[in-house]
Amino acid sequence: MKKCFICQKTIKPFIFLGKQPIANGFLLLNDFKKEYFYNLGAGYCPNCFMVQLTQQVDAQKMFHENYAFYSGTSVLMKDHFKEFAKDVQKKYLNGPKPFVVEIGSNDGIMLQNFSDWHISHLGIEPSSNVAKVAKDKGINTWCEFFNSKLADKIINEYGKVDAILSANTMCQFGDIKTILIGVEKLLKDKGVLIFEDPYIGDILKKTSYDQIYDEHVLYFSALSVQNLAKKYGLELINVEHQEVHGGELRYTLAKGGAYKVSSSVADRIGQEKKHGLNKFGVYKKFRQNVEQTKKDLMELLNKLKKQKKTVIGYAATSKSTTVINYFGITPNLLEYISDTTPIKQGKFSPGMHIPIKPYETFKEKYPDYALLFAWNHGKEIMAKEKEFISSGGKWIVYVPKVKIVK
Ligand code: SAH
Ligand code: TMP
Ligand code: ZN
Repeated sequence: MKKCFICQKTIKPFIFLGKQPIANGFLLLNDFKKEYFYNLGAGYCPNCFMVQLTQQVDAQKMFHENYAFYSGTSVLMKDHFKEFAKDVQKKYLNGPKPFVVEIGSNDGIMLQNFSDWHISHLGIEPSSNVAKVAKDKGINTWCEFFNSKLADKIINEYGKVDAILSANTMCQFGDIKTILIGVEKLLKDKGVLIFEDPYIGDILKKTSYDQIYDEHVLYFSALSVQNLAKKYGLELINVEHQEVHGGELRYTLAKGGAYKVSSSVADRIGQEKKHGLNKFGVYKKFRQNVEQTKKDLMELLNKLKKQKKTVIGYAATSKSTTVINYFGITPNLLEYISDTTPIKQGKFSPGMHIPIKPYETFKEKYPDYALLFAWNHGKEIMAKEKEFISSGGKWIVYVPKVKIVK
């Protein structure tokens, strides 16, 4: 029986997605033999409502000098983080000498804005390759894992913080206790922690089970974050839905009683209860929906194979690792995966070892079908790939349901 990372009560597992490799562990031929696998599954805590992985992978196995995810690859995300930064600046950085810290600052996609506005900032980013990209742009970055000890070091060096920001990173911490203790220490009396992560409400609604992989340990809701905040002297004061990454929720936390709680919190929790996020039934239903997608997608890929159609994968996202390995999509069904990130090109996909080719390969000779793994960037991609469609190509999407798009 597995215990909840947050409250230590027994969790209820609701999905098992098989043996999986590291989602961003793109590898060379020589590395196949020593590839690492773990059991990927998720469970629901009936006590504190946190949805979570049933097994956690060591951080050092995922975040290192060859981390494959560069945030700056998406134009849409650059704009998104600019808006995020503007909002923070307007609401919370009006005092003298404001100071902002970001946890999981990657290549500096968010902090670039504060740097441009000459606002004092510090990024915490343990993956040295992406941290270097930020440093080279003049963004103040420490290549470290954030935790409660590091918070002391930041206070010693710079003092306390007005706004701690984090995107797609807080969800990675099974040991979130040391993170929130650190955050609470680091904040000024009126300081805020603002973070956004994939929203379990959207995952259930869209059957976007591919958000479940090693790096995503926690799947937050307003219900679970409100509980979590209280445990560490913090209070959830605002929530806001975001369309990016397939649907996220942005949470603002402050020290207990420091701000009036916005009505958005009660509204969102009301909706979550209405949709049954605090009951096991929706999670069971989710598993049935995933099985249906698996059946539909595999039938389609096998049919196209028989018809001798060429099918490739579009974008070697971390999410694609879950789909490929759980469904058993072999290089026989998917010729290659096209991706714009240089560090992934020439390598093979984790687990099934499908070759990753540069985007130019796709442009030079369009396949008959492209399986859209970056469905969360669907609008941006379909707008830029009109020529693929006009030359007879078709998209295969699998979220929320398997569908061919002409
Ligand atoms: N914020 C960016 C990057 C998200 S990926 C974006 O939204 O696009 C998550 C990042 O968190 C990775 O770059 C990873 O190296 C970093 N990370 C992992 N553990 C961390 C820790 N303990 N402290 C700070 N960053 C961490
Ligand atoms: P993400 O879905 O986890 O953000 O991963 C994005 C990956 O998709 C990254 O490897 C870059 C790749 N990508 C493309 O190859 N082409 C594109 O047009 C976009 C938006 C992303
Ligand atoms: Zn719990």
